[in-house]
Amino acid sequence: MGENELVGQSAAMRDVRRLIDIAAPTKTTILIQGATGTGKELVARSIHKNSPRKGEMISINCSAIPSELLESELFGYEKGAFTGAEKMRQGRFEMASGGTLFLDEIGDMPLPLQAKLLRAIESRTIQRVGGGKDIPIDLRLVCATHQNIEADIEAGKFRADLFYRINVFPIKIPELAERAVDIPQIVKALKKAIEKQNEIGPPPDFDESAMQEFMRYTWPGNVRELRNVVERACLLFPGSKLEAKHVREHLLRLRAPDPVEEQDALWAATTDLGASPPDDANSAVMEAPLPHPTHYKDWFAFFDNIDLRRHLQEVEVVLIEAALEKSDGMVSLAADSLKLRRTTLIEKMKKFLIQKPTL
Ligand SMILES: Nc1ncnc2c1ncn2[C@@H]1O[C@H](COP(=O)(O)OP(=O)(O)OP(=O)(O)O)[C@@H](O)[C@H]1O
Ligand SMILES: [Mg+2]
Repeated sequence: MGENELVGQSAAMRDVRRLIDIAAPTKTTILIQGATGTGKELVARSIHKNSPRKGEMISINCSAIPSELLESELFGYEKGAFTGAEKMRQGRFEMASGGTLFLDEIGDMPLPLQAKLLRAIESRTIQRVGGGKDIPIDLRLVCATHQNIEADIEAGKFRADLFYRINVFPIKIPELAERAVDIPQIVKALKKAIEKQNEIGPPPDFDESAMQEFMRYTWPGNVRELRNVVERACLLFPGSKLEAKHVREHLLRLRAPDPVEEQDALWAATTDLGASPPDDANSAVMEAPLPHPTHYKDWFAFFDNIDLRRHLQEVEVVLIEAALEKSDGMVSLAADSLKLRRTTLIEKMKKFLIQKPTL
């Protein structure tokens, strides 16, 4: 399997690969949506690689370039278009002609440029800054965003007409925690890639318990975070055999409970987390990810049963108490942060005998 291969046998990942196979050979515009580090760029590369297009894939990250410069980056400029424009320069659209143009973080494209982008996509021609001539381009557009563009449209930050132009063939990449079964394969691929790229010693070997630990973690930074963790492991423990304990204590930020501990341990650990006051020594805990609902999928791998009603009530109580704490006891504010009606929150506080925090 190649280094830039999209690894994973989960249904979700198989779907992503199937969509790539369908769309790659065509000129259809693709919109890749996924949270940070889920593999959007890798998907874009795979689309280009599996297409018959002879040119290069040209990428531009719309959020990394100041908006004043973005237009000339995209469309190029004519000589004399502005002070400093000593000779003509092609933009990314022209450079990508015959290849693939990858517009990364398109959700961050400034509104005035969105109109120009729309025009370029519709007419398949561009105008360089300071030039009046329409230049035809052979365009294959792949866009990516970690944002919810539909919400940006509601907020007036993204043009609906542009969204419909780019959302022709959407590919959604799920979070890593939702496809935890892929983790062992991805770790294997990452170990190989890291060893090759960084000239570091032999990677460590993660035993079954270490892998379980990886599969239980929430991965807020998704595959990119997993990659960092594997790279850290290669540096800290070259060639060693690593167990769950190493993963918990040295590689992940969150101290997750041990699976052999009694049933309540999982819950106790998460309540402890909320109760510990933030201070400098604890800042790692402040960044710690929260338990992800999909983690419950593995519950019966570790325990025989669960008192579901009691467990869910305990979750409610902790969240209500935390919301009241945050709002300094103001019930309507707490209700807002829980997206509950004020009266519903008061009923729940009565039912669970929750007091407002004493100030
Ligand atoms: N399914 C996968 N199999 C193997 N490696 C993967 C997979 N998905 C992502 N990666 C690796 O994870 C890292 C992050 O991927 P990538 O840069 O494509 O994510 P991204 O969604 O573009 O991230 P960002 O939102 O930060 O721009 C890369 O090193 C990539 O090679
Ligand atoms: Mg990216």
